[in-house]
Amino acid sequence: MHGSRREFLRAAGLVAGGALLPAPLLTGRAAAATPAPQAAAASPWDQVPAILARIVPPAFPDRTFDITAYGAVGDNTTDCTPAFAKAIAACNAAGGGTVLVPSGTYRTGKIHLLSDVRLQVNGTIRFRTDHGSYQPNVFTRYEGIECYNFSPFIYANGRTNIAISGTGTIDGNAPAGDWSSMGSGGADSDRLRQYGADDTPVDQRQFGEGHKLRPNMIGLYNCTNVLVEGVTLTNPAMWTLHPVYCVNVTVRGVTFRSTNSQGDGCDPDSCTDVHIHDCRFDTNDDCIPVKSGRDRDGRRVNRPSQNIVIENCKFSGRWGGVTIGSEASGGVRNVFAQDCQVNPADFPGRYPCKYALYVKTSFNRGGFIEGVHLRRVTGHGLERAALYVTLNYETGGSLPPAVGDITADRITVDGAAQAFALDGRSADHIRNVTISNSTFTNVTTAAPTVNYVDNLVLAGVTVNGKDISTTQPPPAARYEAENATISQGAAESDHTGFSGTGFVNTDNVAGAYVQFTVTAAAAGSRTLRIRYSNGTAVDRPMAIAVNGAAAATRSYPATANWDTWATDTLTVPLAAGSNTVRLTATTAGGCPNLDYIEVA
Ligand code: GCU
Ligand code: CA
Repeated sequence: MHGSRREFLRAAGLVAGGALLPAPLLTGRAAAATPAPQAAAASPWDQVPAILARIVPPAFPDRTFDITAYGAVGDNTTDCTPAFAKAIAACNAAGGGTVLVPSGTYRTGKIHLLSDVRLQVNGTIRFRTDHGSYQPNVFTRYEGIECYNFSPFIYANGRTNIAISGTGTIDGNAPAGDWSSMGSGGADSDRLRQYGADDTPVDQRQFGEGHKLRPNMIGLYNCTNVLVEGVTLTNPAMWTLHPVYCVNVTVRGVTFRSTNSQGDGCDPDSCTDVHIHDCRFDTNDDCIPVKSGRDRDGRRVNRPSQNIVIENCKFSGRWGGVTIGSEASGGVRNVFAQDCQVNPADFPGRYPCKYALYVKTSFNRGGFIEGVHLRRVTGHGLERAALYVTLNYETGGSLPPAVGDITADRITVDGAAQAFALDGRSADHIRNVTISNSTFTNVTTAAPTVNYVDNLVLAGVTVNGKDISTTQPPPAARYEAENATISQGAAESDHTGFSGTGFVNTDNVAGAYVQFTVTAAAAGSRTLRIRYSNGTAVDRPMAIAVNGAAAATRSYPATANWDTWATDTLTVPLAAGSNTVRLTATTAGGCPNLDYIEVA
């Protein structure tokens, strides 16, 4: 996919410039001596369970308001704008429920959501292309600056408990209209930026009909308890899904197809507690850009985006997968992204992403970007640096943004112009960047860019097979099974390949267990590795309990023979100090043979 285009960009050398990594960093260095095993420190990821516990999607009363009962006709022609408005008003007046869009294609202008309403889209909503359908102006934030403009196609302001869900499609239909001719706003964009710079009262910043600021497709403002689930969102005029000043937002199972210019996917803008998961992005711009306002206007509003958790997403798009900025003047903190795929073969999209992580800001923005964490992210065919952090997105300005506390762990990228580029400024260093346990292959420019970075830690990082680590990851603490507490089994050594003095062969019964005592320096989630062999053809599942509480159930498949060992890796919660980890056979086969566990 995209082969020729990508090859062209590589050949053209369109990669981030800047100084090369200082020579010593490029030399693989073995740790001088292996330090004594230590319990691993707490991880920033330990904040995630508490964030996710707060993010609860809204529930709706069991009442249905079918739009066809309010005059809607799914003939792709009839204007259903009044029917949507009536059905939503009736649903809200009744105390909430579901407004149903059944099969069929419903043409409509703006849809304004009210509290306690779920818009359930099983058919297709196709938006009208005339500008008048999005008048009068409503309060919006256009590229990070507040103003009054066209209504987003779907809009809510100040609502509680709202959802857009279903198996259907919401089609912005932008290519059929003249939205694209408005381009990036021209003189209107300049005027809006000047209003922001001058602190012009927001109600005097009027655009809409006769102006060139394109509306976003779904704009949700000042809403609490928001769910967007399942639907396919396609053909927006500009950005696709734009939650602004919202708290408690879930976006799950959504497919984004936004291939018009500036077609961002999901832009959380000055939002708190956002969970975006199991979504697919095929965008013409950033897939998930986290934002918080632009320049002086963003600082005036001064609301950060914070506690954003992104999981199990597939990214194809013209710029970044996980993006922070560029409109981040109100600050961004605590962004977590895990188990995501960039440019996956099974979801190619129209454009490949250039970056897996793209942090972009400037001295015009000011503000802060602190706490950005990626783990278990895979990528292919990234046109530029897999991880790119720049404070040089624009020239000019006098407000150094504070950017730091960025971690990337277990990043596996095959094909990129560069592994990473960290581009600070002499007057504003990027602080505290750790890249660990990461492998970058088929990288065309072997040397990463590192300009003005304080405390860069590279631990277990290879580029094209060469170890560029400045340190090694803390060694895992290993606990041999033969030294653990064994119930219904025995330590043996009649196979090869084990570590220590042997392994544990449990009896072939359910309930046989091996219990380890492990220590942790601080409470939090840890990586647990279990080394086992299974010389049979039948899985040997085990229940894993930590301190008596069930933590996981895992299946242990054949390893060819009893001399061949495999390692299973999972994450478990540990308390500070001493912990028990018990592995219990759950079937009559017993446990697989157990060599050791490691805790990192
Ligand atoms: C064989 C093997 C043991 C293993 C056992 C089992 O006896 O030698 O190491 O534990 O099979 O099936 O559990
Ligand atoms: Ca056995």
